[in-house]
Amino acid sequence: MGLSNPLLEIHGLRKEYMQPGGPVQALYLDFLEARAGDAIAVTGPSGSGKTTLLHLLAALVRPSQGSIRFDGRDLPAAAYSARWRALSVGYVFQEMNLLPDFSLLENLLIAAEISGVPRAFDRSLSLLCRLGIEDLRYRRPAKLSLGEQQRAAVARAVLHAPPLLLADEPTASLDAENAGIVMNLLLELAAESKSLLLVATHDEAVKKRFPRVVELTKNIEKTGQRGNLP
Ligand SMILES: Nc1ncnc2c1ncn2[C@@H]1O[C@H](COP(=O)(O)OP(=O)(O)OP(=O)(O)O)[C@@H](O)[C@H]1O
Ligand SMILES: [Mg+2]
Repeated sequence: MGLSNPLLEIHGLRKEYMQPGGPVQALYLDFLEARAGDAIAVTGPSGSGKTTLLHLLAALVRPSQGSIRFDGRDLPAAAYSARWRALSVGYVFQEMNLLPDFSLLENLLIAAEISGVPRAFDRSLSLLCRLGIEDLRYRRPAKLSLGEQQRAAVARAVLHAPPLLLADEPTASLDAENAGIVMNLLLELAAESKSLLLVATHDEAVKKRFPRVVELTKNIEKTGQRGNLP
């Protein structure tokens, strides 16, 4: 694929969730185009659809309308599989989602195995070192601070140098200093692997680190639905 081609193209993307009281509009994003190596902050008020957008991009949920083109093709039915995700996506979840019964190192090795990372042990250790948590590698997540867990979640997400790197409020539970450390690492590691990085954030300091910002809104030029709710 040529340098000038976008890695990601979104057109008229809409997600609704069916609820007992009727459909809930979770996201509307008219257009977005991004290339490998781009770094984009996704902002907007609570409930504007930041997490929903990341879920759609990771093919964890399907669009209600519109299209997501990735690497020149519509996110195909085949994308909605653990295998596509394992190869194409790194995801730092809002709640981290580290496996509770395994040490940090095991968390990385298991993820590496799933994604077929070569030299997984060396790669895992070197990432833990870079993130300053190598001494904690035999500890389970419950025995770590939130900041340490957040760094481990970043290490796990970047292990396989994914084309698409998604992070949902990766600094939400950190103080300013640790937020800075985690953001530096995410940006550096994304740049190294030429990943397209999208970070959902409320944090103004985080937002400032990004050359591009996508602002989601809650009010509906979308469909008028939300405006009609009590
Ligand atoms: N699985 C679901 N079922 C029903 N409604 C949902 C679901 N997931 C999200 N929503 C609704 O969709 C809207 C967008 O939610 P989303 O979690 O994407 O917002 P957000 O921008 O990430 O918010 P926050 O800043 O609080 O994390 C909200 O109104 C939410 O209640
Ligand atoms: Mg969210």
